Amino acid sequence: RILPRFYHERVVDHYNNPRNVGAFDKNDPTVGTGLVGAPACGDVMKLQIKVDEETGKITDACFKTFGCGSAIASSSVATEWVKGKQMEEVLTIKNTEIAKHLSLPPVKLHCSMLAEDAIKAAVKDYETKRGKSLETTASTT
Ligand code: FES
Ligand code: FES
Repeated sequence: RILPRFYHERVVDHYNNPRNVGAFDKNDPTVGTGLVGAPACGDVMKLQIKVDEETGKITDACFKTFGCGSAIASSSVATEWVKGKQMEEVLTIKNTEIAKHLSLPPVKLHCSMLAEDAIKAAVKDYETKRGKSLETTASTT
């Protein structure tokens, strides 16, 4: 066992077999990148989404987290939950739902907060990029 006993088996599972670890090209116009840090501990999470431009649906997601087991497990869960959903839909994902799913202890709540923030930041990044590219298209036509 790598993690102490008080961790829920889901945390251990996501920690040992994290889903969707990786990175997309952040310059790809269909990719949104959320990079967030936890002031409480200095851990950093990068979560990326790939969006179908026509439907606004998230077709793929990946993450890289430098941090504790709970942060890794939270980001792993987050990538699973956002896949196949609409962007507006994933904005309603609450860190408390992730924490509940993983049965995180109260001191580890900020780790799941990192995942909620990372999802929001990724959507925002995608929208900012898309807004810019729409502007350029509009001004060149
Ligand atoms: Fe060390 Fe978060 S403070 S892993
Ligand atoms: Fe800081 Fe988990 S201890 S993200």
